[in-house]
Amino acid sequence: MKHIMIKQFLIKQKKIAKGLYFTYLAHRGQNYDEEIFWDTSFYTSGISDRQTISPQKSPISTKYHYASVELLILRTLYNRGIDLNNSVVLDIGSGSGHWIDFYKSLGVKQIIGMDVSKSSIEYLKEKYKNRTDIYFYHGKAVECIDKIDTKVNIVNAIGVMFHIVDDAEWQETIKKISNQLSPNGLLIVGGHFGFINGINVQFDDKNNINKRLRSRAAWKRTLKNAGFSKVEFIKNQAYLHIDDSLPENNILIATK
Ligand SMILES: C[S@@+](CC[C@H](N)C(=O)[O-])C[C@H]1O[C@@H](n2cnc3c(N)ncnc32)[C@H](O)[C@@H]1O
Repeated sequence: MKHIMIKQFLIKQKKIAKGLYFTYLAHRGQNYDEEIFWDTSFYTSGISDRQTISPQKSPISTKYHYASVELLILRTLYNRGIDLNNSVVLDIGSGSGHWIDFYKSLGVKQIIGMDVSKSSIEYLKEKYKNRTDIYFYHGKAVECIDKIDTKVNIVNAIGVMFHIVDDAEWQETIKKISNQLSPNGLLIVGGHFGFINGINVQFDDKNNINKRLRSRAAWKRTLKNAGFSKVEFIKNQAYLHIDDSLPENNILIATK
């Protein structure tokens, strides 16, 4: 078991080290076009929880990833005494709807989903076609949030904020999220929150950057400027115990 932990730890460190080299020494790539990439290069084998990570991902490690993130969110909601009945959740980058099912199973009143991928939104509209408590917007979060006419209690953004690679768009999205949250509302982000800011770690075959990791300090500063009062970072160590690569899935909880 110990060798898996060491191997996984080193793989993560290597990814960061390569990202640092590509970003700050080689200056590799240019920002990708979110509105094209997800439909033409990513969701090419259909939509499912597994596909939101990679078409080759095993169903077991996919479930393991989601379960590890669920555990951290559930722990937070329970320990903070948050009552989800009558609450409204906004899920950014809904993908296959995993987080919609999760929050629905916890009794929330209404869920608003959004995704820049047309294939994802078509899939989700079909999946929840008989539901009047779940609805969707297609487009970039920064534009879709403007269309919401209700305050929300939780904004959930798992595995999506690092895909907003343009810094100005990322900051603007956080500001709009803040404006949409009710007092004491929570923003829950899944990703990587390290010490060095702006590390480009993923490129497509045309050398376009599609994943950019922001530091804890950059998150804290941006959240504060956007009007959040408190931020907590929770490490997810589950990746150390499975012999497969998982997406960055630590958790940030910001309170409005
Ligand atoms: C890695 S998947 C994660 C999906 C889902 N949150 C989950 O955890 O299963 C990232 C999703 O975010 C969407 N996305 C990327 N950039 C976006 C943006 N600026 N606005 C809205 N959705 C975006 C992608 O289309 C994709 O469905």
